[in-house]
Amino acid sequence: MTLDLLIRNATFPWRGQFVKGNIAVRSGKIVKLFRGSCTETAERVINAENRVVLPGLIDVHVHLRDLEQSYKEDYHTGTCAAAAGGITTVLDMPNTRPKTDSAEVLKFKKKLAQGKAMVNVGFFSLFPSRIDEIPKIIEEGAVAFKVYPQDPESWLTGSLPDRLKSASKFGKPVAVHPEEKVKDEYNTIQQFLQVHSINIEFSAVIRYTLAAERAQCHLHLCHITSKRTVEYIRTLKASYPRVSCEVTPHHLLLTRKHIEEKGSLLKVLPPLRENEDLESLWLALNQGIIDVIASDHAPHQKSEKEKSISDASPGFPGLETTLSLMLTQVNAGRISLKRLVEVLSENPAKIFKIKSKGKIEEGYDADLTIIDLKAKGKINPDSFYSKAKYSPFEGWTVKGKPITTIVNGVVVMEHGEIIAPKGAGSVLTT
Ligand code: NCD
Ligand code: ZN
Repeated sequence: MTLDLLIRNATFPWRGQFVKGNIAVRSGKIVKLFRGSCTETAERVINAENRVVLPGLIDVHVHLRDLEQSYKEDYHTGTCAAAAGGITTVLDMPNTRPKTDSAEVLKFKKKLAQGKAMVNVGFFSLFPSRIDEIPKIIEEGAVAFKVYPQDPESWLTGSLPDRLKSASKFGKPVAVHPEEKVKDEYNTIQQFLQVHSINIEFSAVIRYTLAAERAQCHLHLCHITSKRTVEYIRTLKASYPRVSCEVTPHHLLLTRKHIEEKGSLLKVLPPLRENEDLESLWLALNQGIIDVIASDHAPHQKSEKEKSISDASPGFPGLETTLSLMLTQVNAGRISLKRLVEVLSENPAKIFKIKSKGKIEEGYDADLTIIDLKAKGKINPDSFYSKAKYSPFEGWTVKGKPITTIVNGVVVMEHGEIIAPKGAGSVLTT
């Protein structure tokens, strides 16, 4: 058997436990898993002794921007950042300029991304204003739909139920930013936190989950932040399992104290919360109530962040910090590596129905992330591939990092360097 790539002496998760073996790759696929010895040769052999090989990470909440906002990030820089962070698939959010709300825009984005992407890229779409555009958007390959508080498909116009039903009919999940539409009027950090309170999150979660239940669609709640929300989802899941939710590293690791100290750079929606919220998020994550960790990579120009709290843009980059931050937590004993694989690879593939990804299995795509659990480092935004060279985690010490990122059998990143040609990634069409 001629192989393109053979990863030797790998420890990897396989059917619920970590095993040792060799992973053989040909034509972008995992063709064989050898337990024990293996005499095969390949064009490229990687010795993964003392490393762990994970199924490539899937980040379901990424703002790659590009188009009219390519000054913030573009498909190339954003996906280089993903590969540098050990992420092999990203789902791009539709709050772009122009908005992603038609088959035409989606087609244009796919074409543009094809020549620039370094990892696999799937696209979210907003709901279109005309309901008959929904099948066309799906035909064009949208992975899922996304609803924002400011979208016209709000509760009041009454058009949301029809759209949820339509998404459900086509088997597409609907992701929501669970906050109510608010008047963004505030001058201090305290006022900002108050305007975007946990009540605003909670009432949106209730409203969306009731609507989803009625439409019998799969609802994915993006970046949940509070104890109250977590407890509600815990009960809800018992009666309505077609709901999933995600948490970001920043909501797991930072509190309001951090924004009070550092100011607008840490402005993000939803905002950072209290210690008791963090504790309940960690518990829910470990218990399987929270299904996914996603970065909500939301890059802006630094000058757009260095403004008063009311004028600063919300969000910050996350693709290059998520995995290292979480491996540090594995080392600290706060989460198991097994659970991390579930929330960073397996569950994202399941929820968003991304075929042949999220697991290391024969016949699956050769999307692999090789990590060194013991490597120490410091978060240094100057070294980011993202155009957004700042981070709330700047200077944090981490233990555990990605060493090699393999996308469809191609080594894209090695020791922090992007080594594949531009466009080595691919566009997902489901
Ligand atoms: C996101 C952005 O900048 O697009 N900002 C944020 O603070 N999270 C929007 C979003 O995901 O809600
Ligand atoms: Zn959001």
